[in-house]
Amino acid sequence: MEQKNRGTWASSFGFIMAAAGSAVGLGNLWKFPYLAGMNGGGAFVLIYLLIVVFVGYTIMLGEMTIGRATQLNALGAYKKLNKKYTWVGACGVLAGFLILSFYNVVGGWVIKYIIQFLFGGVKGNASEFFGSFISSAAEPLIWTLVFAAFTGYIVWRGISGGIEKFSKVMMPALFVLLVVVVIRSVTLPGAGAGLAFYLTPDFSKLTPSTIVAALGQVFFSLSLGMGCMITYGSYLNKDENLAKDAFIVPFMDTAVALLAGFAIMPAVFAFGYEPGAGPGLMFITLPSIFAEMPLGTIFGLCFFILVLFAAVTSSISLLEVCAAYCIDEFKWSRTKATWLLTGIIFILNILSSLSMGPLSHVLIFGKNFFDLFDFITSNILLPLGGLMMCIFIGYVWGIDNAIAEITQNGKFPFKSRGFWTLMVKVIAPIAVFIVFLNTLGIIKF
Ligand code: PHE
Repeated sequence: MEQKNRGTWASSFGFIMAAAGSAVGLGNLWKFPYLAGMNGGGAFVLIYLLIVVFVGYTIMLGEMTIGRATQLNALGAYKKLNKKYTWVGACGVLAGFLILSFYNVVGGWVIKYIIQFLFGGVKGNASEFFGSFISSAAEPLIWTLVFAAFTGYIVWRGISGGIEKFSKVMMPALFVLLVVVVIRSVTLPGAGAGLAFYLTPDFSKLTPSTIVAALGQVFFSLSLGMGCMITYGSYLNKDENLAKDAFIVPFMDTAVALLAGFAIMPAVFAFGYEPGAGPGLMFITLPSIFAEMPLGTIFGLCFFILVLFAAVTSSISLLEVCAAYCIDEFKWSRTKATWLLTGIIFILNILSSLSMGPLSHVLIFGKNFFDLFDFITSNILLPLGGLMMCIFIGYVWGIDNAIAEITQNGKFPFKSRGFWTLMVKVIAPIAVFIVFLNTLGIIKF
């Protein structure tokens, strides 16, 4: 009875849309293109793809498996299988909380841009426009609150009636909008230089920091290392073919990230902008391009609506990780969990947002609140969570138990069983560990 009250996905398609919705987000549309732009274009893209295939798929399947086996939230799942590993799940819930504390702020910026494009786009100097907007005290917070409340509303409606229902509409819409923007971008005169930059790996640009950035980005973009896929997997029934889903979701996520590059890079080159503009690429460079492009206001509007859809289907998964924890472990109602958490997270949103302006002088380890939350999660908590998950499945819970759950004792085929076993037990943890030591400055490549 208690299990039933947690909710379940109504269909396999709905689950895939929700999981892909979690994965496809600001990570794909905002971070991926600017990281690629800053890290040598094609070289970064290639390393990224390798890590998705080897590490991304492995951890995706591991998380879904733990979730469905236990039917519990991230913390509860580890606790149920082995009490000593409860902390791994706890780090996951904490990561979800911390990611939301900056994610909602960026979501708020996206809403502001949608409104801006409804009224004709960004006129004048886009860099000044963006800078003065994010550094002001009140306005970004209002949009952040709108975004956070929208996220809270969907999560409050529950698994099939909220998350699944919205993802099933927003994900296909997002895809269509993205294809429209890509077509516009690659048909601009002068687009070829952008395509060349994006598709030709320049290995002289390849540095250890490219690899660190690519690994962190794979975790962030695929929603891995924090029990998000454990939580979503926990609402699955035993008829679902996990090995297939764990392939489809990263595939879709990667397709969208690559398409986002195709939407952005050709336009950047066609209008003579810098691909390495960093985080401002989406909010400064793109609006300037839309301002110069024929019908740019309409394409800009399409673009920011698609970014909003992507961001919301991700923020709901982040909130769900925290909500599921409170619902399962403290027996809170969904209403209480959703709105109380939204409120607490909003307090951290205030810190992140103000750190762009009035609080920009407050630095912890040399970083403002926004960058600190981003760094702790993408570069520390997520890789650590992924590493521990591999160790946990490989050596604590046991690969045989995991495979029995994946195949439902032989009911489903599992062609990549040998590959997955090797990845979970050896390759993925070693790769993540080495990169992790580099992040912490313990070793330098
Ligand atoms: N994957 C999301 C994105 O690309 C962010 C996210 C990270 C969501 C971790 C859930 C968990 O934007």
